Amino acid sequence: MTIENKENLLEKARSYEVEASKNIPDGQKPKFHFAVPTGWSNDPNGLSYYNGKYHLFYQYNPYAPTFGNMHWGHCTTSDFITWDFLPAALAPDAPYDNNGVFSGSGIEVDGKHVLMYTGVHFLFKTPEDEAEHAKIAGQFEKFIEMVRAGRIMPRQVQSIAIGDGLNYEKLPENPIIPTDMLPENSDPGNFRDPKIWRDEEDNRFYAVVGGHSIDDDGQILLYSSDDLRQWRYEGILYKNNREYGTMWECPDFFALDNKHVLLSSPMGIKGDGRTFSDGSGSVGLIGTYDKATHKFTREHIQMLDYGMDFYAPQTLLSVDGRRILIGWMEKINSRQIPASYTWNGMMTLPREMRIENGKLYAEPVRELKEYYTDPVSHENITVEGSIELKGIQGRYLDMTIDVEAGDYREFAIDVAADGTRKTTIRYEAGESLLSIDRTHSGHEQDCDKIASTYVASQDGKIQLRVILDNCALEVYVNRGEQVMSALVFTPEDAGIIRFTSTNKATFSVKKYGLRLK
Ligand code: FRU
Repeated sequence: MTIENKENLLEKARSYEVEASKNIPDGQKPKFHFAVPTGWSNDPNGLSYYNGKYHLFYQYNPYAPTFGNMHWGHCTTSDFITWDFLPAALAPDAPYDNNGVFSGSGIEVDGKHVLMYTGVHFLFKTPEDEAEHAKIAGQFEKFIEMVRAGRIMPRQVQSIAIGDGLNYEKLPENPIIPTDMLPENSDPGNFRDPKIWRDEEDNRFYAVVGGHSIDDDGQILLYSSDDLRQWRYEGILYKNNREYGTMWECPDFFALDNKHVLLSSPMGIKGDGRTFSDGSGSVGLIGTYDKATHKFTREHIQMLDYGMDFYAPQTLLSVDGRRILIGWMEKINSRQIPASYTWNGMMTLPREMRIENGKLYAEPVRELKEYYTDPVSHENITVEGSIELKGIQGRYLDMTIDVEAGDYREFAIDVAADGTRKTTIRYEAGESLLSIDRTHSGHEQDCDKIASTYVASQDGKIQLRVILDNCALEVYVNRGEQVMSALVFTPEDAGIIRFTSTNKATFSVKKYGLRLK
């Protein structure tokens, strides 16, 4: 790529996205969840309140529905449910971030909007390696081979851009946290996703950054600054000690209900056969923070979502004091969109977090209720076999099902169903195992078909809140004690909902349709 092209990268993205986003057919996207205007998005970034609006940025490849070419896309919301899209905010156009403007965060500082992010660039062993890298553009396997051979050395550094809610300028001091501010034995190629905040007591800025040691142990590092330009390394806030995965990405750190909470998305978790599943996942830790030593001590750890499609969440504190979490509703190795789609990227509903019984709970933001329409309820329904209920169908709804205690074996809800396809939310009472099964949902791509987790229930009494927004499915268990998120790309007109129990079960259901205002 020539220098001229680099200079125009942001402009190019801004004009491209406007045109490309017009070409998306109706009926593909969700209506009450964030969906990328065109191309690809992964992590939520820069979630912040600025100038009277909530701003959400996102990892963004405007040009294709695949990972690559990382920019920051940008949108705003007033109610966390519907989003107004703004021009892309950051492009990979500086020497320290020309291989990707990776994840980060945002805050308001004295009337300005401050974005802190990871810049990715490569060092090359020889000029020949650099030339070869230019030739293999887009060939991921070859790229990885060169990285393994030490011919390409990815470097990740932390940088800041400051703006007015629309346009952002990268600081001339960037990178403000270069790799030589890493502690000994850290991997300079995996050092990313700064989450910044201002401490109300000492008025300093702090940022947590994810990473790992060269021998693969996840660590969350803490940095501080008085002026956003000069940063100081404060220490390792938390070390994984090889318990949950390897590289700890996307940290977040905040006070909640008289505790401190650390979030991260470790890669390569080895599941425990109960509630931690294998592979990449997002975890929440509850504990205490000793500000004098900058150490976080864990008292509890759990997954933040137990479905197939959740990763890299980030939080903000809303104006009215709620800690709100939003996650990327997919994972990197799980490409699911139908082949004809030119977009791929959604976020979960923003969730209000709380600590209850020593655990993290999450429920959808209360603003969703503003979109309720056509309530329907059925009380004390007894099912043995399968039934459909009057007024309970569709692809845009929020319904709560209370199953009564009883000696039923299996209670299931099919959603997004038609004559052949269905997605099943299945509760096996004996084992207390809840699953989302999309084996027959009509996915064209190979992807995980079933996600399961053990849930709490007493003698089969369980509450399931099912939110369906076209292709986005979220199941909240027992008032947010657990959540499962999954994408279901069944055509929009598959709207049958069916309740099944192998032997007699009794339940009530209250459903609201969701309608845009
Ligand atoms: C998580 C992640 C981040 C990184 C970004 C790149 O999904 O890998 O660690 O900053 O995505 O797009």
